[in-house]
Amino acid sequence: MTTTAAQGFAEWYGRAPAGVWSAPGRVNLIGEHTDYNDGFVFPFAIDRRAVVALGDRDDRVIRVASSFSTETVTIHLDELSPEALSGWSAYPLGVAWALGRFGADLEHARGVDLYIASEVPIGAGLSSSAAIESAIALALDEHWGVGLDRATLAKVGQLAENRVVGAPTGIMDQAASLLAEADAGVFLDCRSLDADVIPLGFRADGLTLLVVDTRVEHAHASGGYAARRASCEAGARALGADSLRDVGSADLGRAAELLDDETFRRVRHVVTENQRVLDTVRTLREHGPGAIGPFLDASHVSMRDDFEISVPELDLAVTTAQANGAIGARMTGGGFGGSAIALMVDALVPVVTREVLAAFAERGYREPGIFAVQADQGARRDS
Ligand code: GLA
Repeated sequence: MTTTAAQGFAEWYGRAPAGVWSAPGRVNLIGEHTDYNDGFVFPFAIDRRAVVALGDRDDRVIRVASSFSTETVTIHLDELSPEALSGWSAYPLGVAWALGRFGADLEHARGVDLYIASEVPIGAGLSSSAAIESAIALALDEHWGVGLDRATLAKVGQLAENRVVGAPTGIMDQAASLLAEADAGVFLDCRSLDADVIPLGFRADGLTLLVVDTRVEHAHASGGYAARRASCEAGARALGADSLRDVGSADLGRAAELLDDETFRRVRHVVTENQRVLDTVRTLREHGPGAIGPFLDASHVSMRDDFEISVPELDLAVTTAQANGAIGARMTGGGFGGSAIALMVDALVPVVTREVLAAFAERGYREPGIFAVQADQGARRDS
């Protein structure tokens, strides 16, 4: 991938890049729709990355090209604003704009040429956009000498996503992409941004994490995601809390009386999911990864029934994996499509793969993409 991006850069711009940076997509092990409620998440970075090759310019123009579009987008730094950006280039150029909001001196910065290549599948719920944002954030931060720490770079990516792309997402995806380490998960407190990197031990214990990409495409800039976020905020307000982070299971009785049924179930998902993250991390530390299955399973039920963000394809992937011996399984990411994950002993991989494919075929669903992922290192400079 590093070579692909460097080659793409050379073919496109006719010279070698000055540097190459990369950042991974992510799988969220547990903690869904908790990030924008100031809660807890436990994602890890996957071994599929977005790679950015960057070259200097001596004017104030930014050009960006990529392996997934035939178009090059050119913009003068003086014109960089959320309103001026759209389409795929809103991700990288949105980050350039957002860096300005976090202290980069864009009035005096030199322009750059950028070329992006990515192996993170798009629309699969594996944060292909955060991978691009995080690689660009790290590259431009270094190139322009801004010197932001990684948690702040995650906020830069989130601001680009919220203000420029227009998706009201939380901080999890960018934080995972920037803070992750190999063979470990990032236990993140989304209120303080305190992150604990915790060894997962899948490989040592002979476990594989399979991703089932249902190929049901989702988009967070529209519809369900924003509606869920609004319900959570309304629920917190009605309960007199700053955010659902401050609502605990002891408050659920009062919540049931105060809230309408739907808002109550949205709130119950977030409250119980925060607890499941804490339980998963504790269980992983005390008993190892083979013991975390029940929390993954319970998380899926909560997303399906209380938060209502699953789809039949995700449910089928989860129940089929469970019925064939997976330790635990759940949908991952924002929902309404995308991917499910299933944790299992290595020997079960062919069985679960075969059975999930067969179950999808039997229902007449589109053939899913099924692949194993490893917990990989976060964003880095590659050359
Ligand atoms: C998407 C968003 C994240 C998070 C998840 C749900 O991936 O980008 O911020 O809210 O959905 O957990």
